[in-house]
Amino acid sequence: MFLGFTCVSQAARHAKSRWLPVSPDLTRAFLLGLSLIAMATTVPRAVAQKVQLSVEVSKAGPKIDRNIFGQFTEHLGHGVYDGLWVGPDSTIPNTRGIRNDVVAALKALNVPNLRWPGGCFADEYHWRNGIGQRAITLNPNWGGVTEPNTFGTHEFMDFVDQIGAAAYLSINVGSGTPREAAEWLEYLTAAHTTLAKERAANGHPEPYWVGYLGIGNESWGCGGNMTPDYYLSQLKIYSRFVRNFNPAQDKQPMWKIAVGPGGSEREWTDWTEAIMKAYQNREWSWSWDINGLSMHSYTVGHWPPSFASVGFGEKEYGQILKYTLDMEELVSKHSAIMDKYDPQKKVALIVDEWGAWYAPLPGSNPGFLVQQNSLRDAILAALNLNIFARHADRVRMANIAQMINVLQAMIMTDKEKLVLTPTYYVFKMYVPFEDATFVPVAFHAGTYTHGDISLPRIDAIAAKDGAGRLWMAITNLDPNQPVEVEASLAGFTVKSAAGETLTAAKVDSVNTFDAPKTVVPKPISARVDGGKLTLTLEPKSVTVISVQIDNR
Ligand code: AHR
Repeated sequence: MFLGFTCVSQAARHAKSRWLPVSPDLTRAFLLGLSLIAMATTVPRAVAQKVQLSVEVSKAGPKIDRNIFGQFTEHLGHGVYDGLWVGPDSTIPNTRGIRNDVVAALKALNVPNLRWPGGCFADEYHWRNGIGQRAITLNPNWGGVTEPNTFGTHEFMDFVDQIGAAAYLSINVGSGTPREAAEWLEYLTAAHTTLAKERAANGHPEPYWVGYLGIGNESWGCGGNMTPDYYLSQLKIYSRFVRNFNPAQDKQPMWKIAVGPGGSEREWTDWTEAIMKAYQNREWSWSWDINGLSMHSYTVGHWPPSFASVGFGEKEYGQILKYTLDMEELVSKHSAIMDKYDPQKKVALIVDEWGAWYAPLPGSNPGFLVQQNSLRDAILAALNLNIFARHADRVRMANIAQMINVLQAMIMTDKEKLVLTPTYYVFKMYVPFEDATFVPVAFHAGTYTHGDISLPRIDAIAAKDGAGRLWMAITNLDPNQPVEVEASLAGFTVKSAAGETLTAAKVDSVNTFDAPKTVVPKPISARVDGGKLTLTLEPKSVTVISVQIDNR
């Protein structure tokens, strides 16, 4: 992958070097120095590959919307029940039934928005079953299990409030009616109506804030197997009649998100064409409107999912990362169609289901989509977040699937036990990129090859936060070779740098309840050399550093 070229002067290269500690504290600096020496002795028998990055600090790009770090939780397996909800009578510490340990872990991620109740579940969800006296129903999509509906509207809104996220509701277009959906929104957001009084009687007098509304889910598949034209006729009705009445949202209206494509082939480009063309041709924007077009894309390999989530080697590591990089083509392809009909980029491309989807763990219920989460997934997450950031002008929201115990999860629980996954740590390391301004980076990625798989050796993004700090995220995909990165900042010099790196002994290293710290970030030092930055990336690692800079 060629992403540009930077010429670095020999003089600068040979300028006096100086190692900068991650903190001014001398003791810490000394310890870090020791860890660097340890790194130098333990990591590479292999010679570090050199990569030069040119960071165009003054060429600010679009904002990297914090919503691309969104999450998704569905009534599926132990995503909700036992994952985040244990009920108020549980011995597991909870607040109104919601696990305290889960809330604490998620608060550290600064989760911008949470999509719920599905997924496929959403198109069979009837909201009245989940308020007041609960109805016991079934979950035919996911294992055919009993759905107690104890986690309903109020519990979800309480959960997003506890973690500080905005609510993204997926409404039932497949088996519901426009009236049912409209009444749900009235129940949630109106002030003085009968439905608002019912909400108050159920414990919440104030209207709720609903940030995002998904109009259907995969309506071309589990959401009703609709053609683009049929879906469009539904979209127009739901978009028109499902309203948000919360006066506090007048200045920040709820986004309406249409179902979009699920791949890159002709049927999917046709779908995007149909929706976007209709959007452009709508005669009266008050008649129907959308703010986003959803796209779903999992890293699966082959269907049904057969890649193991743990116990794999370098071959499967390379294969999965190759598949995941297809996200770039997918986003580019659908963005180009959207550009045709919406050159002002009013409609965001919203990747509201993405992540790795592997074979179910042996012994688990195949309908519960339980898989392990390894270092490979951490790298996969970083690569996808980088793609979204590079397309920040169009991709303004994304939701990894799914938050707890399902697919590429942040958190896994087993009764009172909880473990944070490698993917969790990538999301934590990337928090500074939320709402930061994209800064272009040019580099020769180099190539890592294993058998017939070739991948870019590194990937990198940079951004400036609100306080003017520069942040860089650099991934070394090569599982065998360290990489020495030399970064120059056009027009600026580097004063200091501090950061963290995430790696582990093996490509399939995982955190478990018994060994929860196998894949956790550790501090990394950087060297400043003639105003440039040099740092050594361990093989198969994700690194995020903050860089203090000066005008030259
Ligand atoms: O995330 C699991 C499922 O994948 C969702 O329910 C559905 O939308 C998608 O096919």
